[in-house]
Amino acid sequence: MKILVTGGAGYIGSVTVEQLVHTGAEVVVFDNLSLGHRAAVHPDATLVVGDLADRAAIDDVLATTKPDAVMHFAARSQVGESMREPFRYIGDNVTCGLNLIESMVEHGIGRFILSSTAALFGEPQTIPIDENERIVPGSPYGESKHMLERILAWTDKVHGMRYAALRYFNAAGASEQRGEHHDPETHLIPLVLQVAQGKREAITVFGDDYPTRDGTCIRDYIHIIDLAQAHILALGALDEGSRVYNLGNGEGFSVMEVIETARTVTGHPIPHTMGERRPGDPAALTADSRKIRAELQWTPRFPKLHDIVDSAWRWHQAFPSGYPE
Ligand code: UFG
Repeated sequence: MKILVTGGAGYIGSVTVEQLVHTGAEVVVFDNLSLGHRAAVHPDATLVVGDLADRAAIDDVLATTKPDAVMHFAARSQVGESMREPFRYIGDNVTCGLNLIESMVEHGIGRFILSSTAALFGEPQTIPIDENERIVPGSPYGESKHMLERILAWTDKVHGMRYAALRYFNAAGASEQRGEHHDPETHLIPLVLQVAQGKREAITVFGDDYPTRDGTCIRDYIHIIDLAQAHILALGALDEGSRVYNLGNGEGFSVMEVIETARTVTGHPIPHTMGERRPGDPAALTADSRKIRAELQWTPRFPKLHDIVDSAWRWHQAFPSGYPE
């Protein structure tokens, strides 16, 4: 099977490409390398440098490579940044996704996996969050992914495109060769590990007055390899129809608990300071993933926060400067 992976040079995309290559799939990565890294692309995948804003470039890659399916990771993905630049988030994520979907319809490619997000749920009514939770995005980022889910639902109805929308909770951890390298970094676990590496003096905790057990935000961290495996399982199930899944381990950890876990893993004291809330952050997000477990027999291999942080720590130690530019 041949799969086109947009954003395959980014964090989640590159690990999914690696896992796809391990299954024997033929993989073409389409990435503009604005946020991704050439070195993150598995050597057995073909990298096409191109931009989803450029409809002709998409037509070209689909016409020449003729993939059986597309996995779409390329997107802006930061909740906080989207609160500062809402039009850019909604504009870029929706326009680029729409370009891709339209071009796929024209080229007769009918299988699509969307990187969706827990940010669809804003402040949820029920925790853990299952697929029936009402959708009220908490940020322009979440809104952009909701719009793409709606576009896909119509593309299925009108054109018969089969899709899976995978709503990730907090992707974290690393494989042996691939991990998290953003510039600038904004995510909690890599930032905490930068303190342990001596690259930062302390981590700032964004708010300690949330209605949670210790006042800091609670998130459900999911290992990147478990996420990648979910994509592969979802692709295999598309012939039976389109579907949406919430993807997490079902257990929430507060910011302070993540820092404490990183202290245990690294043996470093990791000083922290208390800061202001970050706009757009919901208090608590944890997933009810029983649906994908039951329907696709998805079973996380690395459900423990300790193991997730440990894998990230091993990657950051092996690649202290991240990917070479
Ligand atoms: N946080 C801090 N200090 C920091 C960085 C983060 O306290 O320096 C806190 C945040 O406020 C949040 C938690 O750590 O409560 C996790 O923050 P991240 O930035 O690591 O991740 P987010 O929860 O904001 O977002 C991530 C992805 C989104 C996805 C979301 C789904 O980046 O794309 O998970 O839950 F939508």
